[in-house]
Amino acid sequence: MTLQRADGIPRADEVARLVGAFDHWDPALAEDPHPVYERLRQECPVAHSACHGGYWVLSRYGDIEAAARNPAAYSSTKISIPLDIGLGGLPLPPLDQDPPSHTRFRQMLLPFFSPGRTATLEPITRQAVVGLIEGFRADGSCNAAEAFTKPVPIAVMVQLLGVEPDDSARFSQWISAIVEGGATGPEAAAQAGADVYAYFVDLLDARRADPRDDLLTFMLQAEVDGAQMDDQERLGCAVLLLIAGIDTTQSALGSCLWYLAQDAEARRYIAGDESRLGPAVEELLRVFVPTSVARYTMTDVVVGEQPIPAGQPVLLPFPSANWDETEFPDPGRVVLDRTPNRHLAFGAGVHRCLGAHLARMEMRVALQEFLTRIPDFRLADPDAVVWKAGPIRGPVRLDLVFG
Ligand code: HEM
Repeated sequence: MTLQRADGIPRADEVARLVGAFDHWDPALAEDPHPVYERLRQECPVAHSACHGGYWVLSRYGDIEAAARNPAAYSSTKISIPLDIGLGGLPLPPLDQDPPSHTRFRQMLLPFFSPGRTATLEPITRQAVVGLIEGFRADGSCNAAEAFTKPVPIAVMVQLLGVEPDDSARFSQWISAIVEGGATGPEAAAQAGADVYAYFVDLLDARRADPRDDLLTFMLQAEVDGAQMDDQERLGCAVLLLIAGIDTTQSALGSCLWYLAQDAEARRYIAGDESRLGPAVEELLRVFVPTSVARYTMTDVVVGEQPIPAGQPVLLPFPSANWDETEFPDPGRVVLDRTPNRHLAFGAGVHRCLGAHLARMEMRVALQEFLTRIPDFRLADPDAVVWKAGPIRGPVRLDLVFG
């Protein structure tokens, strides 16, 4: 199936408007940003937007990858555009650090996110996934964004962080309120953020007194070159994982189900042979990568022929890189065994996603179990799907009908 909208003509004015006044938060970009990115890549690959105080937008694969791989020129210390994401200046290591400080945090955390360690979470992930599916299968329908794609990464996060089983329902509610800040309201999200933070403070103390096999204990013990994290950094890192690991996975998984609901052949192809699952997940990640990230220039740089002065915010939209026609022939077509597939869904360079193994495992398990248990499903109403725009794009309402 080719995803580019066929009705290009009625959208032409809108695309021109969205290119001219580019804003990655614009709700009009939520459903399908790709005609806009395509136009940017072809006509204005280094664009300047006047929104949010002014920022630059790269759109070609090569430029985005080069910037992501050059932390000396493109700093990560301010992680969003606009700058304030309502966390009150809490440090979020390793994401908001540049080398050499970033290197220290990254080295500390890497063993916890290794393929081997990730594999130990697979049985519990499968159990959670199966439990969720069996909870709604007999109903014949579900809002997959609420009933499936959000609770899957939350269940994994509960395990990863070592949240007590008795607290997991309360913890999940806080995370829902944070992830859906826009829907539930900023006050509810801020309150949930404060509750989670206070919970982590207590959990850190509990793990100090009684170590377990979980991330907070791991952070209390990890050291590199004889140095450890301090508590503020441990708490910030735990909060970062909520931001980095839940919304992203939920959005990617939701987009995959949206697509699969419309392509019976793809469903049968993936379900037909387990060896197809891995490459299919890679292609779905390429096509539906939800994440755009921010950098701030540390020096004057030149991208293509365009100079960008020091101190400027720059957006790296990985969705645009992953649809660059010079890197991926026929980029709007889902080719489930595409090779090569050097996609940038997890970024590139020193900040490349620390949870990539985990995210891949969650997606494989979730899609495999869904397609096995509910082989046939479709969108209840394609026009009723609600997409969220911004740096993490994906469906937030996704009604599916089975059979
Ligand atoms: C499909 C799901 C996911 C996608 C698409 C995704 C994407 C990304 C991207 C693009 C980056 C690079 C950020 C940058 O360059 O500024 C990143 C970084 C990161 N991700 Fe993920 N991510 C996913 C899931 C996860 C999960 C499940 C976790 C952990 C539980 C995680 C933890 C992190 C962390 C800690 C970083 C920061 C790494 C660093 O700064 O060194 N991510 N992710």
